[in-house]
Amino acid sequence: MAQISEDYKQLIELANEARRRAYVPHSHYPVRAALRTKSGRVYTGVNIENAAYPTTICAERVAVFKAVSEGEREFEVLALVTDNGGSPCGACRQALAEFGLDTVVLIADGKGKLLQVMTVDELLPGAFTPKDLQKD
Ligand code: THU
Repeated sequence: MAQISEDYKQLIELANEARRRAYVPHSHYPVRAALRTKSGRVYTGVNIENAAYPTTICAERVAVFKAVSEGEREFEVLALVTDNGGSPCGACRQALAEFGLDTVVLIADGKGKLLQVMTVDELLPGAFTPKDLQKD
């Protein structure tokens, strides 16, 4: 990835700093996210695992839910960081799609290297969104 704006770099760093807060006794795969809303606030998230595995929640959804529970619904960009530059899971793509297909997702590795820049629309083509629930 040739150019990375200072803006994106900072968000990736902020996400990466949350690494130690990931609760990952089962997978040992820490995921961290930082979501910037259109109002300029940033909400971080980490994955939080559970001995009853399906109860685990991903880092991206923690960030989204923190933002929404604080009254924020308009997102600009989410930085996702894993040690190996992993991709967002389907459930997180869907959770992001609820709040807008234009949200930019930055996928970076643990060294802060930006590997991919994609919109939610690109990550989840043909997403089921609130529009699909309209009756007419
Ligand atoms: N995980 C995330 O936090 N986000 C994703 O998009 C993919 C997976 C977490 C869930 C679990 O704690 C660990 O990574 C391994 O699946």
